[in-house]
Amino acid sequence: MNKDKKYIDLENRYGAHNYHPLPVVLSKGEGIFVWDVNDKKYFDFLSAYSAVNQGHCHPKILKALNDQASELTLTSRAFHNNVLGSYEKYITTLFGYDKVLPMNTGVEGGETANKLARKWGYIHKGIDKDKAKIIFANGNFWGRTLAAISSSDDPLSYEGFGPFMPGYHLIPYNDLHALEIELKDKNVAAFMVEPIQGEAGVVVPDEGYLAGVRKLCTKYNVLFIADEVQTGIARTGKMLACDYEDARPDILILGKALSGGVLPISAVLADDQVMLTIQPGEHGSTFGGNPLACRVAQAALEVVVDENLAQNAFELGDLFRSELNKKLSSCKLVKLIRGKGLLNAIVINDSTDSSTAWDICMKLRDNGLLAKPTHGNIIRFAPPLVISKQEILEAVEIISETIISFN
Ligand SMILES: Cc1ncc(COP(=O)(O)O)c(C=O)c1O
Repeated sequence: MNKDKKYIDLENRYGAHNYHPLPVVLSKGEGIFVWDVNDKKYFDFLSAYSAVNQGHCHPKILKALNDQASELTLTSRAFHNNVLGSYEKYITTLFGYDKVLPMNTGVEGGETANKLARKWGYIHKGIDKDKAKIIFANGNFWGRTLAAISSSDDPLSYEGFGPFMPGYHLIPYNDLHALEIELKDKNVAAFMVEPIQGEAGVVVPDEGYLAGVRKLCTKYNVLFIADEVQTGIARTGKMLACDYEDARPDILILGKALSGGVLPISAVLADDQVMLTIQPGEHGSTFGGNPLACRVAQAALEVVVDENLAQNAFELGDLFRSELNKKLSSCKLVKLIRGKGLLNAIVINDSTDSSTAWDICMKLRDNGLLAKPTHGNIIRFAPPLVISKQEILEAVEIISETIISFN
């Protein structure tokens, strides 16, 4: 008997309609696989938007979660706890920054980075009171708060939610010339950018773009904020996507896989000159830096390092793209296969508002693989990074045969 309907009906009846999920009801996950309530098994090729890089229910992360949950979960930052400091030491050492500011969701990480940049702009750059500007690229996505949608050029994100946050400015992505023109404005505090635009459809900039951003930001005394919430933590084949070009951001935002999908955990990393602009009482969060999150985040990062997941993502990402390119080379429906590491997308030869990508995802589901369109014509493929070569080849088979069946 198909049990999906009962669960889907409940969500529709009692939950807000702010999502449009693929009709599949999941009840179990392990490694790269998930199972639905009818016990059908699927390859997970979304990884909860890259939050489950370490695979579902990784035993080491679950052990940290369970061990700490039975000791102490939350103190708030009204008091110290015996886990926060050692986690802070671990993550700052791993990524090479003086300090970390722990938050919960990715969008809170972005908000924190924006506040830090403004404060730094007033204190260190001498920007006049309330005049600070932050530059973003068209197609950016960093969440759903009012600040995040104020910098969005996607009407679906912002339409109907104004008035918007002032002080944001948009330029084309992957355009260093446009960036340089903006950075000449002395009121610009920061440029915030994704090294690869995930939600926009895995848009990979030209080689040299990130290095160019770094250079221009240094030249004009502007902070380079890298939003690595989706690209970070080994997803693209390096620990950070910025590592490909040795483009060290002044402010680094991490989220999603920082917990291996267990809890909402984000982090903002920066050096003292930036981080110490925020004083006690000026920023925070009840749950940010809680002992449970700290233990989980450290375990999640250790798994990425110990299991060499960046290298695996690098090698299997190459294999994934080259095998798909081979199998789909004569498929007219496929316009482009792009990505880095295990963050990839297929662009379908159809309009952005077509239903083709959705229809393909439905068929992929039937064939045992879960993926989600990012627009009418783009499907993202981002499996957990613990996937093996054999499993990638099996998945390529499912994806290519499914797409060819639409030709
Ligand atoms: C690049 C990027 N930044 C920020 C966010 C927001 O993260 P969250 O949904 O945890 O607030 C996302 C979410 O998809 C993202 O892709």
